[in-house]
Amino acid sequence: MLQLSGRTAFVTGGANGIGLGVARALLAEGCKVAIADIREDAIAAALKTLDNQDVIGVPLDVASRSGFADAADRAEGKLGPVSLLFNNAGINLFQTIDESSYDDWDWVMGVNLHGVINGVMTFAPRMKAAGQGGHIVNTASMASFLCGPAPGIYNTTKFAVRGMSESLRYSLAPHGIGVSVLCPGLVKSHIYASDEIRPAALSANAKPVDGAAVDRLAQIHQFGMEPDVIAARTIDGIRENRFHIFSHPEFRDELDTLFGEILADFRDYPEDAGFSQRTGFEKIRRESYESARRTARARA
Ligand SMILES: NC(=O)c1ccc[n+]([C@@H]2O[C@H](COP(=O)([O-])OP(=O)(O)OC[C@H]3O[C@@H](n4cnc5c(N)ncnc54)[C@H](O)[C@@H]3O)[C@@H](O)[C@H]2O)c1
Repeated sequence: MLQLSGRTAFVTGGANGIGLGVARALLAEGCKVAIADIREDAIAAALKTLDNQDVIGVPLDVASRSGFADAADRAEGKLGPVSLLFNNAGINLFQTIDESSYDDWDWVMGVNLHGVINGVMTFAPRMKAAGQGGHIVNTASMASFLCGPAPGIYNTTKFAVRGMSESLRYSLAPHGIGVSVLCPGLVKSHIYASDEIRPAALSANAKPVDGAAVDRLAQIHQFGMEPDVIAARTIDGIRENRFHIFSHPEFRDELDTLFGEILADFRDYPEDAGFSQRTGFEKIRRESYESARRTARARA
């Protein structure tokens, strides 16, 4: 089982919501924590609530590759090599794809997908080189499985984060680095206020913010799960080296229904000309994927 105490953690979006809950839980486990966030006022407020000398704040826009490298240098300069990485920063845009602009795509993809990519590209080589093993948790969402008409761009990013996390899990397992994808349902958080931090350069083609809708979302998020509960379940998932961390057990039935609907889309077509050669190759691929899953689960 991975020992957490004494490790250095880097938590993006750590100034609010899930990220702040995770930072609190890690400090309680005896970790050193860098809280990286685009909201500098929120970092200052968060640090005041964490009266602990093993935590620092690092201003960061996760969409910036060079900014990520600088933030990593700062965090590691003060706290030592990072071996626990939480790519958690995220925003939401509650609208459909057909009503979205390229600016909307660039903003949401830049933070929710490229932010996670930048975290992995910055830290995975450092974690491998440090040789301490460790764990990466990428925050996706139940929206990495479940889609409605909105929020379509958000769904796109979260499906992608789930896919990249699974592939990364298999390539990092031989280095003693676990990878999990966190899939929460509704959280008591500030994500409904994402428009506050939309960059001016990507705002020209944004729809006007609907204040009444934001107020409604604020009320709905009040009934979300407490970040501290999600954080405790995340630590549990890391300890078990589980790939999916499902913080909200109430979604199990809905996934069961969805997986049934997916399988129901298969048809028993007759065998085509290349069937037996193709399935021979797929048998080898399937065995190698099964072996990768077993290896990734088997971390001591
Ligand atoms: N709120 C929900 O109901 C919910 C549900 C499922 C998944 N999630 C996911 O959980 C993660 C955390 O969100 P939350 O709900 O705690 O929201 P939150 O808004 O309370 O916290 C997110 C933090 O990320 C920061 N952030 C946003 N853009 C950033 C950027 N470009 N660079 C650095 N920091 C940035 C924000 O300033 C904020 O402090 C997100 O990835 C979100 O998609 C949230």
